[in-house]
Amino acid sequence: TNRTFTMIKPDAVEDGHIGAILEKITASGFRIVALKLTQMTVADAQEFYAVHSERPFYGELVEFMSRGPIVAAILEKENAVEDFRTLIGATNPADAAEGTIRKMYAKSVGENAVHGSDSDENAAIEGAFHFSGREMF
Ligand code: GTP
Ligand code: MG
Repeated sequence: TNRTFTMIKPDAVEDGHIGAILEKITASGFRIVALKLTQMTVADAQEFYAVHSERPFYGELVEFMSRGPIVAAILEKENAVEDFRTLIGATNPADAAEGTIRKMYAKSVGENAVHGSDSDENAAIEGAFHFSGREMF
């Protein structure tokens, strides 16, 4: 069993999809270890996405991710990181498989509804960015 970190991004929160996305996540076998509604400041988003700072879309990404509330969560399941990325689908919803969260709820490659960590190491770093030990169960 291991863990991944996810965010329901501002677009999906604005559109009222929190409940549907959490239902799909738990119905897919993930246990919620930590959960909250929160908002990243511009500085938070710059730090969270520092790995993308040289990419042409960095400014747009930081602006988008800080524009409204998100749902942050830590999820537990066997093979969590890989299985969660399968569940959310490709970065660009146009390329996402049928039935994936991004296929169902994402609007574009930028506003793509959900985040999923890309490695066990980053899952731990990203979870610790958003949650204290007292908020993990
Ligand atoms: P995350 O789970 O959010 O990390 O997505 P990912 O791992 O599928 O994609 P990646 O880490 O490469 O990119 C991080 C985020 O940057 C994406 O989820 C998008 O929100 C955004 N992004 C990626 N490519 C583009 C792009 O070409 N244009 C814009 N505007 N945003 C992009
Ligand atoms: Mg990524």
